[in-house]
Amino acid sequence: MHHADVMMNEANNGRFYCVYRVSLWAHAVNCLDRHVHTCPERVALIWERDEPGSEFKVTYRQLLEMTCRLGNLLRRHGVKRGDCVTIYMPSCPLAVASMLACARIGAAHNVVFAGFSAEALAERIRDAQSSTVITVNQGVRGGKLTELKKTVDTAVQSCPTVQQVFVAMRTENPVAMTAKDVAMEEVREQKENQTLIKILMPTAEDRKLYFNKRKQLSLFGCGFITMLWLLHVISDNAQEMQKEDVVCEPAAMDSEDVLFLLYTSGSTGKPKGLVHTQAGYLLYAALTHRYVFSYHDGDVFGCVADIGWITGHSYSVYGPLANGGTSVLFESTPIYPDPGRYWEMVQRLKINQFYGAPTAIRLLLKYGNQWVHKYDRSTLKTLGSVGEPINTEAWEWYHTVVGDGRCPVVDTWWQTETGGICITPRPSNPDAEIVPGMAMRPFFGIKPALMDTEGEVLTSNHTSGALCIAQPWPGMARTIHNNHQRFIETYCQPYPGYFFTGDGAYRSKEGYYQITGRLDDVINVSGHRIGTAEIEDVVNQCSQVAESAVIGYSHNIKGEGVYAFVVLKKGMDVEEMDLSRQLNDLVSKKIAKYACPDCIQVNSRLPKTRSGKIMRRVLRKVVEQDLNGLGDLSTLDDPAAVQEIIEVIVNII
Ligand code: WTA
Repeated sequence: MHHADVMMNEANNGRFYCVYRVSLWAHAVNCLDRHVHTCPERVALIWERDEPGSEFKVTYRQLLEMTCRLGNLLRRHGVKRGDCVTIYMPSCPLAVASMLACARIGAAHNVVFAGFSAEALAERIRDAQSSTVITVNQGVRGGKLTELKKTVDTAVQSCPTVQQVFVAMRTENPVAMTAKDVAMEEVREQKENQTLIKILMPTAEDRKLYFNKRKQLSLFGCGFITMLWLLHVISDNAQEMQKEDVVCEPAAMDSEDVLFLLYTSGSTGKPKGLVHTQAGYLLYAALTHRYVFSYHDGDVFGCVADIGWITGHSYSVYGPLANGGTSVLFESTPIYPDPGRYWEMVQRLKINQFYGAPTAIRLLLKYGNQWVHKYDRSTLKTLGSVGEPINTEAWEWYHTVVGDGRCPVVDTWWQTETGGICITPRPSNPDAEIVPGMAMRPFFGIKPALMDTEGEVLTSNHTSGALCIAQPWPGMARTIHNNHQRFIETYCQPYPGYFFTGDGAYRSKEGYYQITGRLDDVINVSGHRIGTAEIEDVVNQCSQVAESAVIGYSHNIKGEGVYAFVVLKKGMDVEEMDLSRQLNDLVSKKIAKYACPDCIQVNSRLPKTRSGKIMRRVLRKVVEQDLNGLGDLSTLDDPAAVQEIIEVIVNII
């Protein structure tokens, strides 16, 4: 039975029904071939590389050719429809081509954020049962190199399913190749720019071949000719990508076939691989991209999220490309080489819509207005915010300083699970009011519902509750890979008949929505989602630590910081600095740097209920210094534990 059907039947009492199931769907064709027919020379991607001024443009025709070569390469190496390919690459055209090549041949992709450690990568490869990984030799970010291929080597050692690793070259530095590795590109030239141009630009010969073959396609029918092309004689002296044909027959897919998995954090330790499908996801990404940002033909869309997150998937890749747009892929950081980077890029690339995270806005605000005023931002039309609540100060600064008060700011609420934006202002409706710091109104087809603690729907306005969605929408995730039960338990069972988002929200008198934050043990550090249980698991692996409790606390740049309460094993005495270094090393090795604790507090015990559950609610209140709001402490096993924590915190602060 089908995932969506299962979900409907099992958990939703028939309230969810799948209205968007259509027959066959050749997915990557919608993002590429369609536009190559009408505007082959339009720029699809602007790769804003780490060094400002070294951007690289890729047209629709070039992107289609790269995708086809890669699709053929994957097929030749045995990747089949229904397989899952893990992509561990920073934002770059080849990463986009890798995603689209998977879609083209009917394989699912699983992009893992290139900031994740070897262990985090391995966990995701194993769970996805990938036999193929695509990576680059090194990453370049903020002027520094990261050893991505080496990370993959370490990860693959604990992934018995992996049979092959495709390696592209982002820099010219050679990397050690193992028996499983396949070099994707030839690197002859020594100068970086030339190397990359050679990699990305098909030759005039290729182009001729492509157009001739398209003609043959229409003349003789697809199937037979395609088979001949797949058997095409491969020239001996080229590297793998160059050997491949620039035409690759797209797989015909069912609308509900899997398009990709994307791992995200939940409230338990194990990350979950959310499954998105072909038709609904693409439709929703394209529609929201067009209407939420008021995207028009010819606009340059600048989403600065990494492709390793859902924002990169929907608004750097699928949404803009399905709309035939020009999308910027940002490789750098907001402060490299200086805090004017975003706005210098806006001026140079003539960006029309800019989409970023509040954490970066808060950081840049601190550096002062001069970094913004230095550059011409007159091309900007819409400013977007995503990933975490945007405080009023940051919203106002974004609006008045960055946008000169001209550009609507769209605070877009959504999740990995929702596939695309769900609650947001919509500038294409010019009469609609936008209140600073509010996500405002549901997008077409989204029916939000707020629930009270009894599980009843709150019907009035000026009220807060658990945010649910009352009917399905095209972009919703269909299941958790290999764990449909967890999907049902997490999203469908808390409020039967509704999709539970895990967030709380306030609905104003006027009926506008404001997201108030997570209701579970998921926190948002610099816009990156992480489960506190994931961090606790790692902290507890430290040889000196007996147990720990991790909570999020309000941080004026990151939005939320990581606060770790630690109880040491009996007889352990460790210097604070030493412990902090050990825990940071461990967390960056096991998860990623962004998950490292900002504050570590050693206590002799943690506040627990009589049944042994750590009372994180109490810890949160103590850290917020809201001692009157500690609430009911009668279930505490040992009230003195709270007193001890309060005393230590007072000393720290
Ligand atoms: C939070 C990112 C407030 C929220 C697209 C959600 C937000 C989680 C907003 C999803 C917003 C996202 N205002 N909070 N505009 N957008 N969030 O899966 O808690 O990485 O549940 O998707 O980020 O994070 P995810």
